[in-house]
Amino acid sequence: MKSTSIASRRQSIATALKQIRRDSIDLLAEIDESNFFQQAHPEFSPIGWHFGHIAFTEAYWILEYLADLPPGFLEYQRLFAADGLPKQERQNLPSVATIKDYLQIVRAKTINYLQTAPIRQQERLWRWLIQHESQHNETIAFVWQLHQQRKGNLSLVVEPSPLLDYDSVNHLPQDFDEMVEVEAGEFTMGSSAVEALDNESPAHKVYLDTYWLDRYPVTCKQYSRFMAAGGYQNRQYWSQAGWQWLQQNPVSQPLYWSDSSDWLDHPVCGVSYHEAYAYANFVDKRLPTEAEWEKAAFGLSLNCNHNRLIGHTSPVTAYANQSKYGCQDMLGNVWEWTSSWFAGYPQFTPYPYPGYSEVYFDRQHRVLRGGSWATSSVILRPSFRNWYHPEVRQIFAGFRCAKDKY
Ligand code: AVJ
Ligand code: FE
Repeated sequence: MKSTSIASRRQSIATALKQIRRDSIDLLAEIDESNFFQQAHPEFSPIGWHFGHIAFTEAYWILEYLADLPPGFLEYQRLFAADGLPKQERQNLPSVATIKDYLQIVRAKTINYLQTAPIRQQERLWRWLIQHESQHNETIAFVWQLHQQRKGNLSLVVEPSPLLDYDSVNHLPQDFDEMVEVEAGEFTMGSSAVEALDNESPAHKVYLDTYWLDRYPVTCKQYSRFMAAGGYQNRQYWSQAGWQWLQQNPVSQPLYWSDSSDWLDHPVCGVSYHEAYAYANFVDKRLPTEAEWEKAAFGLSLNCNHNRLIGHTSPVTAYANQSKYGCQDMLGNVWEWTSSWFAGYPQFTPYPYPGYSEVYFDRQHRVLRGGSWATSSVILRPSFRNWYHPEVRQIFAGFRCAKDKY
């Protein structure tokens, strides 16, 4: 790695910046302008705010912090900062065209600075910034889906995708209840690579006893048995916090649910942690810890449903991408809830600022792993950690279950 020339690193950063911005602009082009300024849900900022915040974050960390240029766009300092205005006050935004210009003006300066920037010392921050934009893109993608759902425009038709090989999908054994055994032992958890985020670092050894993990994420077909058995009406399956949540937010199916048989082999998508927890109880299993999830994910490739290539979930057998232990469909398709609270690894050090991860080490957020159909490849890796409040179900989240062997 040390021998990688500065020129080629610069080139690789430039390419990644360009790639992620192409995704952002594609996404922006899909969105109805009328939905740019409104909140789809009180927990999430309007889509337009996210685009402005992407530019603001780049201007702050690259142009001000690294390049030492004087702050620009002073009128946006409060509007687009993460700790500026409360979410309900983020609707009074500049026009779409103005926000697009803002993105472009900042980006032109960024690329200009990149030509001479001391990349050897700065690579971590550049890689962080690329991943920052990609994460906001996924938020934009689900907020956009919430708008479409509210308008009754959410297509529940599974479009046959030229990217999928349906023959091989249909001929695979359909025993989705199968579990794989992961034998006791140590593995390396986390990552100390330059692109690893603060919460993924440092890499460290973790010992786990033998356990079983579902080979596939829980499918709609499996989950429908829980629904049919009165899972949502039966207190016994739920945690105390989960039951309380359900009484206050009565729901009876996942947020992104369809009764069409087209979806039976797709993973459940749009469940809260509480629903995942209740289902696991129902089948006499439990959710995996994030360490169990990560150990079982060893050896995966990037062949998976990601980057909005298809535009929705895919059957859990659609991609031949098996981990060393035989688990399938761990990357892409749906994020998977784990039972772990989001917390720092031993010797955690905040980067680039404590508000990125550390303020969420509060035993109020559960970890999700693996990425979804809307996740970009720059954050698709077994060590990547996402986190949300356990009641959040607007994200593209499903789960798989685990069980103790002894
Ligand atoms: C890790 C996806 C929960 O979007 O709130 C973006 C990522 N942090 N800007 C979020 C993040 C700062 C974060 N998630
Ligand atoms: Fe952000």
